[in-house]
Amino acid sequence: MPKALIIGAGGVAGVILHKCCQVPEVFEQILMASRTKSKCDSLKADVDARYGLEDGVVATARVDADDAAELAGLIESFRPGIVINAALPYQDLSIMDACLRTGADYLDTANYEPPETAKFEYKWQWAYRERFERAGITAILGCGFDPGVTGVFSAYAQKHHFDEIHRLDILDANGGDHGYPFATNFNPEINIREITAPGSYFEDGRFIETEAMSVKREYDFAQIGVKDIYLLHHEEMESLALNLKGIRKIRFWMTFSSSYLNHLTVLQNVGMTSIEPIDFEGKKIIPLQFLKAVLPDPASLGPRTKGKTNIGCIYQGVKDGKPKNYYLYNVCDHQECYREVGSQAISYTTGVPAMIGAMLVLTGKWKKPGVFNVEELDPDPFMDALNKYGLPWTEDFNPVLVD
Ligand SMILES: NC(=O)c1ccc[n+]([C@@H]2O[C@H](COP(=O)([O-])OP(=O)(O)OC[C@H]3O[C@@H](n4cnc5c(N)ncnc54)[C@H](OP(=O)(O)O)[C@@H]3O)[C@@H](O)[C@H]2O)c1
Repeated sequence: MPKALIIGAGGVAGVILHKCCQVPEVFEQILMASRTKSKCDSLKADVDARYGLEDGVVATARVDADDAAELAGLIESFRPGIVINAALPYQDLSIMDACLRTGADYLDTANYEPPETAKFEYKWQWAYRERFERAGITAILGCGFDPGVTGVFSAYAQKHHFDEIHRLDILDANGGDHGYPFATNFNPEINIREITAPGSYFEDGRFIETEAMSVKREYDFAQIGVKDIYLLHHEEMESLALNLKGIRKIRFWMTFSSSYLNHLTVLQNVGMTSIEPIDFEGKKIIPLQFLKAVLPDPASLGPRTKGKTNIGCIYQGVKDGKPKNYYLYNVCDHQECYREVGSQAISYTTGVPAMIGAMLVLTGKWKKPGVFNVEELDPDPFMDALNKYGLPWTEDFNPVLVD
């Protein structure tokens, strides 16, 4: 019987649970396990009521996913076909270790980063390739939206539209408003570590570092309008630089409002975004983790967030000897996501692709021994599933380019 174990009980995990429950022919039983079991229980109560589930379809457990042995014990007792990691990037390696011990397939949405250094790279997870191949099990890395759908879009563009892709601009726009002066749309610690780090882009075989938030452009997004976009370092650039034939330049852009950036600057200036431990009333605390504790929980933003996201990729390259431009994007409405699964669009656009990736592994379409980034696998069944399960995509053959 196909079963999935979802680890984590935050905003993204909640969407994955909902979407798996919507596909009962693939996900016959689901175990949701996280550090705080009560959060798993309230998500279970929500899906039980919403989908009228029978007893035993969704179960819950407490687990510390930093402890590979404890997690392996849980996997042994439930015997899932796949473990979907919707906890934090810090848990990626211990969860992969537990999969190796038990023979379960693995999927995540964010690449490993060590807690003590704000640096994410694929090298730690790519080092598992041979062990996963030998064990005959599959690991799918970075299967959210970005990374995730951006890699699937790239594989699709490469397969169907180009002989060579030379330039790629990934554009992530959030036109949503939650009404708080400052809140992050996914885990605040991971989000703030990402955007306060130096930016970078790939050009002619190497990555060039830029000062954080120092490169800015404007872009007019379909269904959102004109937004400021800022160049960031983002993890999928590392794998796409290797996997896109002929690629010369990749940039990643994200929208931020001036109010968001003002708050972030103040927090940085007073030391609240630091990950260096400090002494506080006889205890060591990490300022960024304290800040996370006082900021709104991203999982609670659903009812308040209005507006849309638009995330996509602009490709420039050649087809049959002629230059060609091609833009693939998805527009997602925060309030529609809330009505469907009780969450805002950032968690939704991450959770839907994670469910689709897990479904493709469980049904054998993406089942192959080894460790893979999504663009290394066949994009076609994934692209069909995006249209079917809530993230339809649009093509533009004459896009405005980012200068
Ligand atoms: N690819 C993409 O497009 C994309 C976009 C957004 C987010 N993401 C990724 O999605 C992941 C989840 O984000 P989120 O916003 O849902 O975060 P979140 O709301 O903070 O949820 C994280 C969950 O993981 C649990 N957890 C943390 N450490 C654990 C441990 N040692 N053992 C077991 N469970 C543990 C937390 O437990 P507690 O409830 O006890 O704290 C929490 O329930 C992150 O890795 C994020 O980077 C990817």
